[in-house]
Amino acid sequence: MPFKLTVNGRPTTVDVPADMPLLWVIRDVLDLKGTKYGCGIGQCGACTVHLKGRAVRSCQTPVSAAANSEITTLEGLSHDGTHPLQVAWQELDVPQCGYCQAGQIMSAAALLAKTAKPTDEDIDAAMNGNLCRCGTYLRIRKAVHRAAVIAKNGSRSLPSTGGGAGRP
Ligand code: FES
Ligand code: FES
Repeated sequence: MPFKLTVNGRPTTVDVPADMPLLWVIRDVLDLKGTKYGCGIGQCGACTVHLKGRAVRSCQTPVSAAANSEITTLEGLSHDGTHPLQVAWQELDVPQCGYCQAGQIMSAAALLAKTAKPTDEDIDAAMNGNLCRCGTYLRIRKAVHRAAVIAKNGSRSLPSTGGGAGRP
């Protein structure tokens, strides 16, 4: 069954079963491999993408629920790696194995889009459910604060409050 989607600003039509998870459409039909399969049951956040600007678990979202909608994947955050979160993630060397990080960044991006200067509590609430087996949570929190500063003024200095310690 054909479904019209707009993925990373590009209109496309996919001919797939209505109950196919959006994750499979993104990875296997559209060949966008940034979005990861972790658990397949909505428990880990590795598959997080934006649907109409909201962070959703694409493994639990049937393609039919995304029809005629805007979807953004990690590849759509920026064309050249200059999204504030991408810059902050690199500056603070956040990933360890990296597997969870696309989902982490997409959840953080949804947060920053609605809360320009999030508190530690805002970050913890927004990122709750994005699991990291490598335990990079403190660097993630710090990088979200840093991205908020970059987004605001492009400052090279680290924020003075929040963010926890460096490498756990
Ligand atoms: S793969 Fe979707 S939440 Fe784990
Ligand atoms: S960096 Fe390895 S699971 Fe998060």
